[in-house]
Amino acid sequence: MPHDPVSDPNVPPGGVSRRGFLKGAGLGAAGAAVLESGLTAIAEASAISAGPAVAGPGRVAISITVNGKLRKIEVEPRVTLAEALRDELGLTGTKVVCDRGSCSACTVTLDSTPVVSCMTLAIDVGDRAVTTIEGLANGEILHPVQQAFIDHDALQCGFCTPGMVMSCAALLDRNPAPTLEDVKSAVSGNLCRCGTYPKVFDAALAAAGSRRPESQGR
Ligand code: FES
Ligand code: FES
Repeated sequence: MPHDPVSDPNVPPGGVSRRGFLKGAGLGAAGAAVLESGLTAIAEASAISAGPAVAGPGRVAISITVNGKLRKIEVEPRVTLAEALRDELGLTGTKVVCDRGSCSACTVTLDSTPVVSCMTLAIDVGDRAVTTIEGLANGEILHPVQQAFIDHDALQCGFCTPGMVMSCAALLDRNPAPTLEDVKSAVSGNLCRCGTYPKVFDAALAAAGSRRPESQGR
């Protein structure tokens, strides 16, 4: 039966099908089929390598929820969450000390999970809720961890303190009755150059309504 290009769905209106073209170019049916499958594979590979849309390098508009408020800002894709909080939103309670993920001074929470904001890109936050040290208090009423840090004099220079408080608050969210070991583990990434660890442990346990066992030395 002769081939009818008009009724062939693979033939564009008024055109020639890819297979028809290949056959017309001197390839047999088998050769045309092999070449056609190769072209299809190349087309699919090209589509995959094209990947998702690329943001930047200029400023892009993003919306992030910080301390319960939706904030719209424009940032370059390279901007970290710590930079966006401090420089775009004026929330300077989050401290940047090492700026390379090794001290946890910049700890904030994303959906209650503590993260180092100097290693989190602002454009990657998405719809997760950001809580900073400014968002812990309920109006004039301090978060129990904040109050306990004051009561137990758990800070000296204060550079590590916002991160320490955020790590301890996140611990109490997921474990309301932590042990001393739990507290030590929760702040194991938080470096304090002033050596306030014993008082930080006391404060976290006091905030949880726990008492540090006397038998466990500092
Ligand atoms: S400032 Fe982010 S981990 Fe040190
Ligand atoms: S209080 Fe100074 S680094 Fe911790």
